[in-house]
Parts: sequence; C-alpha cells; structure tokens
Amino acid sequence: MTSDQGSDAFLLPYEWPGSYFIGEEEIDAVSKVLLARSPYRFYGHDVQHYADRVEDYFRQRLNRKHAVLVTSGTTALSTAMLAADVGPGDEVLLPGYMWVACISAVVRCGAIPRLVDIDDTYTMDPDDLESKINRHTKAVLLVHMSGACGSVERIVEICRRHGVLLIEDVAQANGASFQGKPLGSFGDIAIYSFQYNKNITAGEGGLVVSDDDLLGAKAWAYHDVGYSRNAAGRVDMGGPIQTWGQCVHMSEVSAAVLYAQTQKLDQITAAMRARNHQLYRGIGSIPGAAPRRVIDPNGDSGPFVLISWPSFEIAKTLVEHTRANGVKPGPSGVGNIHMVDWGLHIYYNNVSLIEKRGVNSAGRPWSDPLNAFHTEIDYHKGLLPQMDDLIDRSILITVPPALTEAGANQIIDIYREAAHSLGLS
Ligand SMILES: Cc1ncc(COP(=O)(O)O)c(C=O)c1O
Repeated sequence: MTSDQGSDAFLLPYEWPGSYFIGEEEIDAVSKVLLARSPYRFYGHDVQHYADRVEDYFRQRLNRKHAVLVTSGTTALSTAMLAADVGPGDEVLLPGYMWVACISAVVRCGAIPRLVDIDDTYTMDPDDLESKINRHTKAVLLVHMSGACGSVERIVEICRRHGVLLIEDVAQANGASFQGKPLGSFGDIAIYSFQYNKNITAGEGGLVVSDDDLLGAKAWAYHDVGYSRNAAGRVDMGGPIQTWGQCVHMSEVSAAVLYAQTQKLDQITAAMRARNHQLYRGIGSIPGAAPRRVIDPNGDSGPFVLISWPSFEIAKTLVEHTRANGVKPGPSGVGNIHMVDWGLHIYYNNVSLIEKRGVNSAGRPWSDPLNAFHTEIDYHKGLLPQMDDLIDRSILITVPPALTEAGANQIIDIYREAAHSLGLS
C-alpha cells in the first residue's frame, strides 16, 4: 500500500505526552482551587498557591534562583527577550530548526533573527554559531529541539567567550539533561512550555528561569504589569523596576493542573525514553538509516525519534509506505512524517520570515534604520546548507508514553519491510 488512506489500523497513539497522565491528582488540585473560589494567583478568598509551588518545584529541580510562570512558551520567550533587553539594532542567533515562536519573539521585540545551521544532533552547529557572532549579536537562543540537547557545553563556552547572553529554549525537552545536569540550567535564562504537545502540560503555560537577580526581577516585571509586587500580592510602584508589562500570569487553575503534572515528569519521560531507545535501535540498524546523534541518550526526554536516509525520495517514500501500513496516529496527530513537512519548525516554510513581513503596517522591525544590516540576510531555503540537506532526508516519529513495547516492535517491522521494498537491506 502506498496511499495514506490505505489502512485504518492506527498503530501509533497520539502524541501529547502529559495528557495520558491527567487523572485524579489534576482533578483534585483544580477542585481545590475552585472550591476555594481563588483562581487568581496573587490574592483571593483562600489562595491555594499552586503557581508558587510550581515555581518552587522548578527552582529546586533546576537549581535556579528565579522562576516565573507565564501563559505559554511564546510569552515566556517574549518575557526572556525583554528581560535580556533585546531591541532595535540587535540580532539574536538561533537555529533554523526551531518553532516559529522562537523567531516571532525576536521580531516582536524589534530585533533581527539571524539563523544558524544545525548539525547531525538536529540542534545548533557550534562552528556555524561562532562564525556568525558579530557586533550586533545581543543573545543566542539555543533551542533544545525534539527532546534532547546537542553541543550544549561548547555553545555555553562560545557565548561566555564572546560575552553574549545565552537563552535556552527547553519547550520540547522538559525533563531532559546532559550528563545529569538538567537542560535549562546552562544558560543565563531558560524558558519552558506546558502546551498540550509538551512532556507535561496544563493545556497552555510557560516558565522563565534565571539565576541573575536583575534578569529575574525584569522577567517578573515584564510578565506582570511592569512593576514588582509586595508580599500581599499588590503591585509595588516603588520597587526596583518600573517598565511596561504584558500581564501574562498563569492562573491558579492551570497551575493546579501543572503542579500535579510536575510530580509525574520523570515517569512520563522514562516511559518515552524506553520506547525511543527501542526505536533508535530497531529502525536505526536498517541499512541506510542514520539516527540522530544524541550526545547523551540517557538525558533524552524521549518524545521524538529522528532518522535520516540516503535521499529525499527514500525518506519521502518510507513515510508514505509506513503511514499506509498504520504508522500514523488519528487525524489530528503528527506521528510519522517526512521532516520537510514539519511546518513552522522549518525556517523556509515560514512565509512571514522569508518575505520579511512586519509586525505592523510600517514594516517593523525590518524598516527600522537601526536594523538596516538585515539586508545581508536572505531567509529562503539555501541559507543553511547542512540543515536543508538533513531535513530533506529525515523522518520524525513521535513517541508517546502510551506506546507499548509490542507497538514499537510493530513500527520497527513495518519500517524494515518498507526499507526492504526500497532495496535497503
Ligand atoms: C521549541 C519551542 N519553543 C517555544 C514554543 C512555544 O510554546 P507555546 O506553544 O507554549 O507558546 C514551542 C511550542 O511548540 C516550541 O516547540
């Protein structure tokens, strides 16, 4: 079978890792918030302090001094960029394989995104990063894509040596680590997402963490109304920061769900990691397969398997064959795709970027005279040769915690048969 409609045997459970673990604990926590009639985190009849508890949890887990919960990973990125003072005349270096929010956070601050190539870790290539740092570079956004890190140590070293701020995006890799040290504890600032696709979820949500007191205080003010707050939860107009905020606090209802999910993070990632390793071993041993170079497999949080093949045609045909034989989820899932089809994760699929669309009718930030250097950059496919080649030849499989060992074996068998039919054996 080669048609995508050829089979109705859905082998692959939907992604959305945290959703499988929503149960009594989440229901109980939300009930407590509602019964206390206190869905606002700062004051109310009887605040249950779930937002405080989640922030404490991440401060301890990541050994970070400051943590602030926000409404999404996107608002976490904006908050981090504002705290980092990113604005007109600045450039932020980030990988071409990311999520659109990574670019939009830069553009909405009035700065210019400069894209860095990726290597066989599917994350930022440190050599290309170093060659692109220049006098406009304000920050590097290191995106830990698809559950795991790449050359994090080298990138930390490069940023330190050049005096450039490092922001980690851990939206897709919550619970991941490098040699036992959690991702999100390497950079000057790190952000997380708790949207539905992420390793733990509150439906929507995000987090900003930092050790630096000024960055922490600024992140707080920018996520709030632009000022700090006193112990009674009231805006403190005489505090150290007076600026313009976004009011993107997390509600206690979301924080209650999230708190219950934090207690399950390691269980969820362990379940995904076991199937992830199984799929890498099984599919990765097919002749012609080149599995992602995962620098620390035990630190992979597990939700994705990425494998490249000898050519675009082979990758495309393998996905068609395997999907037709059941390696796909229901209609609203992703499951098993040729990576060129991975939407706004791939820089050249982003029309707003390649056409340099402005955030307003004046064409900001491209029209800002301080950003005139953007004319050096053409964002069309071809900008990042290693990434363009790798993505052309790569497939991505989502690895939900609900995938069983037997299910993973079936996927491996179906991939083997498809590869065999293409002469790869
Ligand atoms: C790498 C990355 N950064 C940021 C985000 C934004 O998170 P959210 O969807 O919570 O706004 C996402 C979401 O998919 C992401 O994958």
